[in-house]
Amino acid sequence: MSPSKAPAPAVRASRPRSEAGKDAGNEVCSAHERPRTQPGEAQSVDEIVVLDYGGQYSQLIARRVRECGVFSELVPHHAGSPEVARRHPKGVILSGGPASVYEPGAPPLERELLELGIPVLGICYGMQLLSRELGGRVESAEVGEFGRSQLIVRKPGRLLAGTPHEQTCWMSHRDAVFEPPTGFAALASSTASPVAAFESRDRDVYGIQFHPEVVHTPYGKQILSNFLEDICGCERSWSPSSVIEEQVQRIRAQVGKGRAICGLSGGVDSSVAALLVHRAIGDRLTCVFVDHGLMRKNEGEQVIAAFRDHFHVPLVAVDASERFLASLRGVSDPEEKRKRIGAEFIQVFEEEAAKLTAGADGQEVRFLVQGTLYSDVIESGGGTGAATIKSHHNVGGLPEQLGLELVEPLRALFKDEVRAVGAELGLPERLVWRQPFPGPGLAIRIVGGEATRERLEILREADAILQDEIRRAGLYRELWQSFCVLPDIRAVGVQGDSRTYGNVIVIRAVTSDDAMTADWARLPYDLLEQIASRMISEIRPVGRVVLDITSKPPGTIEWE
Ligand code: XMP
Repeated sequence: MSPSKAPAPAVRASRPRSEAGKDAGNEVCSAHERPRTQPGEAQSVDEIVVLDYGGQYSQLIARRVRECGVFSELVPHHAGSPEVARRHPKGVILSGGPASVYEPGAPPLERELLELGIPVLGICYGMQLLSRELGGRVESAEVGEFGRSQLIVRKPGRLLAGTPHEQTCWMSHRDAVFEPPTGFAALASSTASPVAAFESRDRDVYGIQFHPEVVHTPYGKQILSNFLEDICGCERSWSPSSVIEEQVQRIRAQVGKGRAICGLSGGVDSSVAALLVHRAIGDRLTCVFVDHGLMRKNEGEQVIAAFRDHFHVPLVAVDASERFLASLRGVSDPEEKRKRIGAEFIQVFEEEAAKLTAGADGQEVRFLVQGTLYSDVIESGGGTGAATIKSHHNVGGLPEQLGLELVEPLRALFKDEVRAVGAELGLPERLVWRQPFPGPGLAIRIVGGEATRERLEILREADAILQDEIRRAGLYRELWQSFCVLPDIRAVGVQGDSRTYGNVIVIRAVTSDDAMTADWARLPYDLLEQIASRMISEIRPVGRVVLDITSKPPGTIEWE
């Protein structure tokens, strides 16, 4: 392949999401056992509960259901039928899982779930559980079935209605249903699954061995739709933007006449959370934007312009760069950098909260708005109420120290849904689509050395060129992240007639769905050339530009 014909960036790997990358700023705390709105409570729209048996694709099931316009949440399989009943769902989906139903200690099916009077659909392990529980025959097949498989539909029933006699589906199992429970109709089979789908209208129980939630099952969405609409009778009335009114009501109910603050970073999560809360309680919300001097070029100005000037949200912008840089003096260890930045952030925030309280005639700020996403909630144990959110790794302990109650209006949303809400709220496109940026900012991209003002300036300029070129090439949204790294090394070069000894800039660009795994982006060679030559000619201290071609794993996205 000729270098100039290098391929465009790889499309995103289709992996199930499990964690959204973190934006900086308001992920400032671990949220232990504080009062908060529970997702799933009193939803005014129809809901489907996905009981999670640990399957690789469980989150994806909830996402697909939401894409069909029906709200859906993941609940751990051990949450119990009262927890499911409390949510008043219109149906339950039992997910796949890694266990065999015959294994000692395999996650069981709670019989009461089948007595809630709502339809139940089992997928893969979920189907095998149903089958076993209701007297069907599940056995280990001689050969497992992994990947694409051919499904033959013998009788569509309600579940497979409207799908072809022969179709492709995605399988991932070793055990299979050999005979359905008495009274069930076997609907379809595949090479290694004698009963690949079954249903009993009388019992309102349905099962499929394959995965309708993955894109490799072309009729998967149709099958899910059949379950949602025809079987459960769901109304397709949920959309990310329908969340806005509901959240506004909830925030009002929680905050009452109180005051709140929000650590605003300009990342999409904190921005959308702030806008929602502002819509609910108006100027009783104050955003605090802490410029730690580790931001990218013009970042602070953009955030201030959007929030203060455009949305008229009360905003305190604190230029704390001096003190942050002072606290980073002489520090090159990445964890130490993170720790010091975290500690400094808490101090600045505490000071600002105290000033705000004093400035409001002592009317105490009692609430902290945080952009916690649904993926954080799932990670912490499924949002059953007892869950503890993982402590975000940039800054810890803020609500505990300040004694603030959390307001988390995005707890039920995935990252792309948050973006949709942001767009609906009028957040500028640049902020809606901003790539994740770590809380400690550019400091952890100066690798193996101290984050000095001079180095930050070099990195900031290099980053600005990279972003500019990536945007111009129309690739910004395709990339999960694109940024520069400045390692503490120099390399020899020659410019004009003189020998140079310049800084090295590393280009890092990755595609990802969730930041848990990532692939290096295949940026076009012409673009890379343009970026490198601009960096070297426009930033005097830069003498060399290199490209990082490491995936995650084995690498991480950031270098430190
Ligand atoms: P890694 O480098 O672990 O990063 O592959 C995964 C995602 O997390 C972001 N990241 C951070 N975010 N504080 C943050 O707020 C941090 O200290 C931090 N370290 C990494 C990273 O940018 C990527 O999106």
